[in-house]
Amino acid sequence: MPGTCVIGLQWGDEAKGKLVDILTGNHDIVVRYQGGANAGHTVVSAGQTWKLSLIPSGILRDGVACVITGGVVLDPARVIEEIDGLESRGVRVAGKLQISDRAHVVFPWHIAEDRLLDGSLSGGGAIGTTGRGIGPCYRDKVGRALAIRLGDLYRDDFRARLGHVVDFKNRLLSGWQAAGTPPLDADAIHAQYAGYAERLRSCVADTTAYLLDAVEDGKRVLFEGAQGALLDIDHGTFPFVTSSNSSGVGVASGSGVPGRWVDRVIGVVKAYSTRVGGGPLPTEQDNAVGQHLRERGREYGTVTMRPRRCGWFDAVAARYTARLSGVDELAVMLLDVLGGLDELRICTAYEIDGRRVTQFPSHVTDLARAVPVYESLPGWQDDLTTVRDHAALPAAARRYLERIGELLGRPVSIVSVGPDRDQTMFCESSTTRRPSWPRPQPRAPATA
Ligand code: IMP
Repeated sequence: MPGTCVIGLQWGDEAKGKLVDILTGNHDIVVRYQGGANAGHTVVSAGQTWKLSLIPSGILRDGVACVITGGVVLDPARVIEEIDGLESRGVRVAGKLQISDRAHVVFPWHIAEDRLLDGSLSGGGAIGTTGRGIGPCYRDKVGRALAIRLGDLYRDDFRARLGHVVDFKNRLLSGWQAAGTPPLDADAIHAQYAGYAERLRSCVADTTAYLLDAVEDGKRVLFEGAQGALLDIDHGTFPFVTSSNSSGVGVASGSGVPGRWVDRVIGVVKAYSTRVGGGPLPTEQDNAVGQHLRERGREYGTVTMRPRRCGWFDAVAARYTARLSGVDELAVMLLDVLGGLDELRICTAYEIDGRRVTQFPSHVTDLARAVPVYESLPGWQDDLTTVRDHAALPAAARRYLERIGELLGRPVSIVSVGPDRDQTMFCESSTTRRPSWPRPQPRAPATA
């Protein structure tokens, strides 16, 4: 079976982009299947830095096809901006990128609604969205009546459909917006989006059909998850989540490719925890340790530039998402950032109202009351950014990795110590044991 999937196991920003870029070398197709322009990934290659949001980083390699599927909410202005940015630096996009005609389109009203609504949660807790219209676009998709998909932009009734939606949105928005805010202008939006449609025409395709053919033909497909599993709409820290299935469960629904075609799931974690936006982060360190992690790890949002909240590695949360996503092996990123700390801590359980729990809470208010129970491990002072071999890591760093593998019940097979492609180690050590978690057993044949 030909599919590999890369899933972030925390709250996003696990440096998945770098890993996807490396793995792309062994794949024919790279697929982005959920989320939208809320994601940002940075790839550093041969001294050049690339910041991508919607287009898979596979675009930087020759001979790799890139697909944005119908599970993604597509802001056409942003994807065109990315295409132009890549082409102006000599990267060919034409003929390599396909975008699903089923992808729902982000319109100006989605961005307006996102900004108006965030912060209106009861109790005053803002989600702290990226302001890219993600939630409102997914809301219209599920609501259906006001949704417009990319394929609709090429149909004769596009202007009429847009007019109907704009009428409705103007009535909704007028009750929320400040007096004097001009209404949405259907003619202007139509002209703008018809222009986008023309620019994207050659990329638009039925990507579900394309991918089903590809897996049946034995093509090697890499599914690139955006955000992290703890931001999953169904299984994350609701309501402080994004609006798509950002855990492993989203691969099939977002791409149209059945999960049975994915035979390798790599769970990506940072060596510590970060979160951007609202919601609980049990191991948050609002102190010198948090400062160390933020500065050494350059923990500022790729999309919004917001400083990220930082804390110790949370094995309760990551074990939950590793199980949820069916993870086979782990990639531990940014290990170098921990250098210089005398003591390292890993959260192995929570105390909630005096009770010790190792199961990740399903309700966010329980998570907000969780007091982490820590295990202490020795730190190291060495600079890891030049280490290229797992065996050459300091003993304390190897023990730290091993402990993460033990607690999550999966082997650590990849370790990253810097942003460049070559600052990556593929481990053949005691940490690459076979997974200790139970695998489904074949059913016994039915007896006559
Ligand atoms: P939205 O996806 O813009 O609606 O934002 C919802 C929540 O997900 C906010 O807390 C965001 O900060 C967070 N979020 C969305 N995309 C990313 C990402 O790519 N990395 C990290 N956090 C994200």
